[in-house]
Amino acid sequence: MTKRAAVIGYPITHSLSPRLHGYWLRRYAIDGAYDALEVSPEALGIKMAALEKTGITGVNLTVPHKELVLPFLDEVHEEAKAIGAANTVIITPEGKYVGMNTDAYGFMAHLTQSVEAVAPCLSAPVVIGAGGASRAICYALKQAGAGEIRLVNRSVERAEALAETLGAPISVIPWEKRHEALAGASLLINTTTQGMGETRLDLALDALPAHAPVYDIIYAPLKTDLLLRAEARGHQIINGLGMLIWQAQPAFEAFFGKKPEIDGGVWDYLLQGIKR
Ligand code: ATR
Repeated sequence: MTKRAAVIGYPITHSLSPRLHGYWLRRYAIDGAYDALEVSPEALGIKMAALEKTGITGVNLTVPHKELVLPFLDEVHEEAKAIGAANTVIITPEGKYVGMNTDAYGFMAHLTQSVEAVAPCLSAPVVIGAGGASRAICYALKQAGAGEIRLVNRSVERAEALAETLGAPISVIPWEKRHEALAGASLLINTTTQGMGETRLDLALDALPAHAPVYDIIYAPLKTDLLLRAEARGHQIINGLGMLIWQAQPAFEAFFGKKPEIDGGVWDYLLQGIKR
């Protein structure tokens, strides 16, 4: 029987997940399918409840559903609970919804691969944004031993809620002070949606030390305005494609029973799918 999975988001047109999972399904000759479902936040509960009857093995959640999905789950893995967001939900044959979070793993696995050494990046990382992806990244940084995590978000309440869940070493910095917050930073990460399409993150990089890499979790476009400006200043830049691939590895294994290898082939195939 064909195993089915899907990604749920709103909007969903930009998602590369169907292309990524489709590549691995073909590569391992698995009888499976991976679709994209556009579901509004208001409809999420009804849609989740209906999935069980479709025989689907699981779903990934993307913007803006990673936190919103939690009330609709029967069981939540420890890491997803600590993060306060789930990006992967397994639906067991008995109809149980089990939430997990593979974003923290995906972020750290790709960061480790991208930078010369992770330790120097951990002294004082700055994270912009306080949504579901930010929660996973702050958690990953904390678990890896970050000395201080400076968290900046447009709405300070959301940043404070995140800091409350995860605790030290997160310090919340008001949106108005975001430019100065980059002084002495060891790594800059954008987790907001600003930079997608025609939008841009309003953040001046003048105070950012030259050795700090700049990481943007956006992958469409591959080089956001933030990354272009960082590159022009000589910073190492990292886009969101790697995190997308690495977070999908454990999700694919949970859906389809095979841990896919991450090699040049999958990168090339995804890059071909991105309009540049
Ligand atoms: P995800 O779950 O993928 O992180 P999200 O929960 O929708 O997505 O979070 C989006 C992030 O982008 C939030 O930090 C949001 O800031 P608010 O909490 O203030 O809404 C941020 N964001 C969205 N639009 C923004 C804008 N115009 N300027 C600054 N930040 C923005």
